[in-house]
Amino acid sequence: VNGKIEIPVVVNVLYRTAAENISLTQIQSQIDVLNKDFNALNSDFNQVPTLFSGVKANVGISFVLDQVIRKSTTKTSWGTRDAMKKSKQGGIDPTSPTTKLNIWSCTIGGGILGYAQFPGGSSATDGVVIDAKYFGLAGSAAAPYNLGRTATHEVGHWMNLRHIWGDATCGNDFVADTPLHNTANYGVPAYPHYSTCAGTPVEMTMNYMDYTDDAGMYMFSAGQKARIDAIFVSGGARYSFAQ
Ligand code: ARG
Ligand code: ZN
Ligand code: CA
Repeated sequence: VNGKIEIPVVVNVLYRTAAENISLTQIQSQIDVLNKDFNALNSDFNQVPTLFSGVKANVGISFVLDQVIRKSTTKTSWGTRDAMKKSKQGGIDPTSPTTKLNIWSCTIGGGILGYAQFPGGSSATDGVVIDAKYFGLAGSAAAPYNLGRTATHEVGHWMNLRHIWGDATCGNDFVADTPLHNTANYGVPAYPHYSTCAGTPVEMTMNYMDYTDDAGMYMFSAGQKARIDAIFVSGGARYSFAQ
């Protein structure tokens, strides 16, 4: 990647209640968290155990708020089938999705914190969705998911990262420097948490691509950074963002 990548972010707010109509302050707090987490500037980065200090990474991609689009709705929940991304279904169509990251804030329902589209999908539905209760800091954000890490995790997916447990028992996340995990971890696991997978490694439970509480996740790895960098080079699925 030549030069620093700065990604313009369009935030699409769908609201029925006042709490869902998240403030500009709350929106900017989320952009700030993304900038910290993707640049190793998060205050908990120094909590990464020594075991992983050789692979903890500064991804080095920044985000800038481009615009906020708001729309009122009578819908109480939007689900995970992209209705919020379609004006024909009462949602908001993405703005310039090949050059801007679109984030939708709405009530998803079903206990879902957020979801993302991987690189290579339709631009009409590209971006990430974050439930208004887990968006940024303060305002409508609710513990233990009130540190903005849902968006860090989802933008990780948007940049081609898989769950660290590979969505299977001791599964493959296509990243060599992340250990095998039995399955998803929740809460804030005590360190060290040993895997029972091949080699019984200590799991990297503090990785953003696990399922711990926001307070339990604070690093990407060098291998994850390499996987991200690969989508922004010429021929990569998100090269249009690197121009
Ligand atoms: N469950 C969501 C997903 O699979 C996000 C989990 C985010 N975790 C968090 N601590 N905010 O994409
Ligand atoms: Zn995920
Ligand atoms: Ca791995």
